[in-house]
Amino acid sequence: MSDREGELRAIDWVDGAIEIIDQTALPDELVTRRLTTVPDLVEAIRSLAVRGAPALGVAGAMGVALAARAHPTGDDAWEAAVRLVAVARPTAVNLASGAARAAARLHDGPEAVLAEALAVRDEEIASSAAMAARGADLVTALCGPAPRVLTHCNTGSLATVTGGTALGVITELHTRDALGGVIASETRPLLQGSRLTAWELNRNGIDYRLAVDGAGPFLMARGEVDVVIVGADRVCANGDIVNKIGTYAHALGAARAGLPFVVVAPESTVDEATLSGDQVAIEDRDAAEVLGFGGTVVAPAGAGVANPAFDVTPRDLVTAIVTDTRVLHPPEPAHHHPSR
Ligand code: MRU
Repeated sequence: MSDREGELRAIDWVDGAIEIIDQTALPDELVTRRLTTVPDLVEAIRSLAVRGAPALGVAGAMGVALAARAHPTGDDAWEAAVRLVAVARPTAVNLASGAARAAARLHDGPEAVLAEALAVRDEEIASSAAMAARGADLVTALCGPAPRVLTHCNTGSLATVTGGTALGVITELHTRDALGGVIASETRPLLQGSRLTAWELNRNGIDYRLAVDGAGPFLMARGEVDVVIVGADRVCANGDIVNKIGTYAHALGAARAGLPFVVVAPESTVDEATLSGDQVAIEDRDAAEVLGFGGTVVAPAGAGVANPAFDVTPRDLVTAIVTDTRVLHPPEPAHHHPSR
C-alpha cells in the first residue's frame, strides 16, 4: 500500500507491478493505482498521475522493469518499450536517466533490471532525508531561527518517493521548530501547489497560506517572505535551474527583494551533460489546461494558448543548490567588459 503506517509513498513496486498514488485525484481522494503495463505507465506519467523529477526517475526505472518482464530477450519490442518510457515527458532528467540505468541491466535478466529499479527507489528515499537535513541547516544559517518560506509547485513525498526536496526541507524546519511560516503558490495551470503541496502540509500539521502565482514577487517586496525554496527538474552543468513554470518569476522577485533563492534537488537531477538551460527541451502541454479547470471553462472559445510546463532560472539568480551530498554555490557569471 502506498500509505503505509503514515508514510506516504508516491510510487512503489508491489506484488509484481507499479503502485502509485493517483495525483490527479488529490486533494479529494487518496487513491492507489496499479500499473501493470508500459502503456498504463506512460499514460499515468503524461496525465501527471505520477509526477515530480525523482518520482519520475523511479517510474522510468520501474517501467523498464515491467518491459523486461514482458520482453526478456531484449528484442525490438523491448527497445521500443524502453524508449516509450524514457520519452514520456521530456524535461525532468530523471525519467530518461532512471530508464537508462535500469535498461543497462537487461543482460543479467529481468530480475536484475527490477533490482536496479528498486535501488533507484531506495536511493531517492535516502536522498530526500539527506537533503532535508542539509537544506534545513543551510536555510537556518542564511535566514536565522524562524524564516518565512515561499515555495512553488509540489516537491514533497508526492514528487519524490517519500520525504521530498524543497518541501522536505520545509518539513524538517517545522520538525526542528525553526519555521516561521509557509506560503505555497498555487502553481497554475494544474495547481500542484494548492492541490498537492497544501494537502501534504495539512497532512504534516504545518500551517500555510496559499497565494496565486502572480502574488509571490509582491509578497516578497512587502516583506512577508524571508527565503524562497524550490525543487528542480534538471540542474544544468552551469547551474541553470529548470523547474515548474513560474519559478523564474519567483527568482526575479527574490533577487529584487534581496532574498535568498534556494534550490533543493538530488544528485540524480544534476545533469552535467546539459551545459545550460537553453539546451533543455521544455515540455509544452495541452491548451485545455489553460482554457479551463475541473470542467469549468475560463477563456473564450478559440483563445490561443501558450502553455510551457517549465522555465529556466539562470544561475545568477540562484543563491545555492542543495543536493543529497553537497551545497553547490553557482559561480557568478563572468562580467567581461571588452574594451571598445
Ligand atoms: O509537471 P510536474 O508536476 O512533474 O513538475 C514538477 C516540478 O516542477 C517540481 O518542482 C520538480 O520536479 C522538483 S520535485 C522534487
